Amino acid sequence: MKHYLQFSDFSADEYAHLFERAAVIKKKFKSYEKYHPLADRTLAMIFEKASTRTRVSFEAGMYQLGGSVLNLTTGDSQLGRAEPIEDSAKVISRMVDIVMIRTFGQERIDKFAASSRVPVINGLTNEFHPCQILADLFTFLEHRGLDKEGRPDPAFLQGKVVAWVGDGNNMANTWLQAAELLGFTVHLSTPSGYEVDQAVAGLRSNASYKVFKDPMDACRGADLVTTDVWTSMGYEAENEARRLAFADWCVDTDMMKAAKPDALFMHCLPAHRGEEVQADVIDGPQSVVWDEAENRMHAQKALMEYLLLGRVA
Ligand code: CP
Ligand code: NVA
Repeated sequence: MKHYLQFSDFSADEYAHLFERAAVIKKKFKSYEKYHPLADRTLAMIFEKASTRTRVSFEAGMYQLGGSVLNLTTGDSQLGRAEPIEDSAKVISRMVDIVMIRTFGQERIDKFAASSRVPVINGLTNEFHPCQILADLFTFLEHRGLDKEGRPDPAFLQGKVVAWVGDGNNMANTWLQAAELLGFTVHLSTPSGYEVDQAVAGLRSNASYKVFKDPMDACRGADLVTTDVWTSMGYEAENEARRLAFADWCVDTDMMKAAKPDALFMHCLPAHRGEEVQADVIDGPQSVVWDEAENRMHAQKALMEYLLLGRVA
């Protein structure tokens, strides 16, 4: 049994399989082809933080695969009344086939997984957001890295440059893990005090990223420019301090001009126009944020299929 708790839990070969399956599964969805390999399987979703995309993509995705879904939140379950996470894991995993959790510290999902009888998926923690980067890379390949037969070709990622402008947060950490595993480089620019912590990001070395003081320099020559909210969920008390610190970390049209002419813009959403990104960029021609959001569903269907059924040809 496998869990998906951080990006580095899977190998490059497993990602190649997931990208391929995501493309196949997406095609079936677009052509209204029924595909119910997870009939009679149940997904439990546990949300200890808010969500739109993760909730909808997992729920709709599981139904489309023929399965069922149940949704628990801190407020409406015993999780919010201090039942130990290990006990919750033991109970929930006796009744469902797969679990997705969105929570605070990574140690919480690690503990849940250690006591779970079924695969556990990280739907965002303070440290990581692997499902998002899975979808983002699939989107990158769909737009720029298809082979001659029109299939996602992960070899395309080798040597590419992804510019990260903003907080050294869960998204940044996960991009870095992906770069280390799949052979691209991240150009990181974060305000001082909000840098990535290499140990928290779980990196083997600093070989797959470069740090830039000026976000414009990070974007220079990039194949993809990406950012995220200035204040992540759980850090709201720092809102004002962050607003001041991040003022120059707004992806604007000048930064996009510094990137390669065919560079894409990505944002995991929700976005705050006028803060981390200018409206002209997120609503502009280089932005692929809506494909990115939709691809959460296709990529996670491939992920659930893999975790429950292994490699389906
Ligand atoms: N990108 C993302 O995970 O969005 P939600 O917070 O809406 O799930
Ligand atoms: N970094 C953001 C991502 C939201 C999908 C957060 O953790 O709130």
